[in-house]
Amino acid sequence: MKTIQVKSLKGNYKICVGQGLLSKTGALVAGIFKPGVKLMIVSQKKLAPYLKTIAASLSKKGFQVYSHTLPDGEIAKSGAELFRLSYDLLAKGFERRDGIVAVGGGVVSDLSGFAASVYLRGIRYVNIATTLLAQVDSAIGGKTAIDLKEGKNLMGAFWPPALVLSDVNVLCSLPQRELCASMGEVVKYGVIGDPALFNFLEKNFKRILRKDLGAIEKVVLACAKIKAGVVSRDEFETKGERAILNFGHTFAHGIEGALSYKGLVHGEAVAIGMMMAAQLAADLGFCSQELPWRQMKLLVSMKLPVSIKKFNLKTVAILKAMMTDKKKNKGILHFVLPRKIGKVTLEKDIPLESVRKILRLAGAK
Ligand SMILES: NC(=O)c1ccc[n+]([C@@H]2O[C@H](COP(=O)([O-])OP(=O)(O)OC[C@H]3O[C@@H](n4cnc5c(N)ncnc54)[C@H](O)[C@@H]3O)[C@@H](O)[C@H]2O)c1
Ligand SMILES: [Zn+2]
Repeated sequence: MKTIQVKSLKGNYKICVGQGLLSKTGALVAGIFKPGVKLMIVSQKKLAPYLKTIAASLSKKGFQVYSHTLPDGEIAKSGAELFRLSYDLLAKGFERRDGIVAVGGGVVSDLSGFAASVYLRGIRYVNIATTLLAQVDSAIGGKTAIDLKEGKNLMGAFWPPALVLSDVNVLCSLPQRELCASMGEVVKYGVIGDPALFNFLEKNFKRILRKDLGAIEKVVLACAKIKAGVVSRDEFETKGERAILNFGHTFAHGIEGALSYKGLVHGEAVAIGMMMAAQLAADLGFCSQELPWRQMKLLVSMKLPVSIKKFNLKTVAILKAMMTDKKKNKGILHFVLPRKIGKVTLEKDIPLESVRKILRLAGAK
């Protein structure tokens, strides 16, 4: 098992990455919660086979274990589910010293973390990340949220977990499309800060696609290190650095919005968004023309889409959705653009005509 430290003003925490960690949950959590406290495992039906191991390991260490099941999908990140979990904690007598163990992907940890941030004005929680996206991204950094009908993640809090456990063994049951989509975010880490990771992905994509756990563990560790470093230095996204994690995301949110979140999963939209950002950077002379080409080859080898031709989207619809993205500032679009593999910069003065040209090149009308 490898550990990575994350600094947080609300309490430092560690990320554990390895194989076969679930059966050690009790011992790892015992460093955080006092013996005998109540722990609510919050998860989803699909994860039932893993929950037995986790619950048994926690009980063995003397914790009082309860469980709460969320529905599958983004629908779980709702006000209704936030209140349902809060009432369940209340009914079971959870106090400030007790905690939540979130077992799942980004949906489970976003909802559980937000509930933890507001229940009794804040209790502690642990993230056991079970999707590749969660292990490389959503379980780390303390952003928690629910959706409103007006948009995704519109209510939430910065509330860091007390511990993150990433057992790569659980990724074996992940559907192939989920695995490939998360590789979009993995490629993102290579471009924004780790040329060695990018090279590793180019050489080892076949091992990753056939779920070679050694290769996947290496990838999870590399990405978690980058995310941990960025959020340790810019926890609340006030210094500009955390914004680099949004590489490809301004375009991706525009595409997802224009498609009403149908037809593409997030990591696939990010892959297309990264291609648009890289092409924009090359057009503006920020990077070589070789960079978008190299990035495209890698994304295609990971079975990720790189254009929006088949969707018949209008340029104006994508631009409108980009403009309503909450990451814009004073109505101005920001773009994270690559300079070379491993280095990106945040750019605020990109001519709209250049953006339109990129959207048309990628297949918008
Ligand atoms: N907080 C953050 O910093 C952050 C960052 C990125 C994304 N997110 C959020 O994360 C969410 C997406 O997360 P996700 O991609 O992990 O999706 P998800 O949590 O919906 O999980 C995808 C599906 O896989 C299932 N699943 C989970 N682990 C499994 C396993 N090991 N084997 C088989 N099936 C498994 C889940 O039950 C679900 O059906 C979005 O709501 C997004 O907004 C948050
Ligand atoms: Zn993303």
